[in-house]
Amino acid sequence: MATKADMAEIFQLEQGAFGTHCYPDFLFRQLLDLWPSYLLVAENEAALSQLPVGALLGYTLGGVGEAKSQGWVLSLAVTEQARGLGIGKALLQHLIGRLTEEGCQQLRLTVHPDNSAAGLYHALGFEHESTEPDYFGPNEPRQVLLHTV
Ligand SMILES: CC(C)(COP(=O)(O)OP(=O)(O)OC[C@H]1O[C@@H](n2cnc3c(N)ncnc32)[C@H](O)[C@@H]1OP(=O)(O)O)[C@@H](O)C(=O)NCCC(=O)NCCS
Repeated sequence: MATKADMAEIFQLEQGAFGTHCYPDFLFRQLLDLWPSYLLVAENEAALSQLPVGALLGYTLGGVGEAKSQGWVLSLAVTEQARGLGIGKALLQHLIGRLTEEGCQQLRLTVHPDNSAAGLYHALGFEHESTEPDYFGPNEPRQVLLHTV
C-alpha cells in the first residue's frame, strides 16, 4: 500500500506515463485517504542498482463501484527503468486479489486500442467487452476490458 511519502514519486511516474491524461497530484493524496488499500506501490528492494533502495518502481490504482460486485483497475504504470521485469504484472495481480477479496465479481479497465499493454491484461484474464470511440472525449477511444472472477 502507498504512504504519504510515495505521493510525489507516484505523481512523477503518472505524469511521465500518461502526460496530459495524468491524474492530478492532489487526487492521489485524497485517494490515499479514501481508498488506501487500492493504491498499491512497488519499490526498489536493491534489485535495480541504478536506483536507490526504496525508490518507486510502479503503482496501480483500483476502485470499487457503487455496486460492490463491480471493481475497476483505474491505473497501472511502471517506471521506464523497471519495465519488463514482471512488476506491472505483479502489481495487477495484487490489485485483482484485493478487489476480489472485497467481493468484486467483475473487474473492468480501459485501454487505448493502440496500447500494447492490452497483452498484459489479456494474459491476466481480461477480455474485450466494448470499444467507445469517445470514451474520454473526441478522438479518445478506449477499449473496455472485462475480467469475470
Ligand atoms: C504497461 C506496463 C505497466 C507494463 O509493466 P511492466 O512491468 O513492464 O510489465 P511486466 O514486466 O510485468 O510484463 C508482464 C507481461 O506482460 C507483457 N507486457 C507488458 N507490457 C507489455 C506491452 N506494452 N506490450 C506487450 N506485452 C506487454 C510482458 O511481455 C509480460 O509477459 P510474460 O508474463 O509472458 O513475460 C508498463 O509498460 C507501463 O508503465 N507503460 C506505460 C503506462 C501504461 O501504458 N499503462 C497501461 C495503461 S492502460
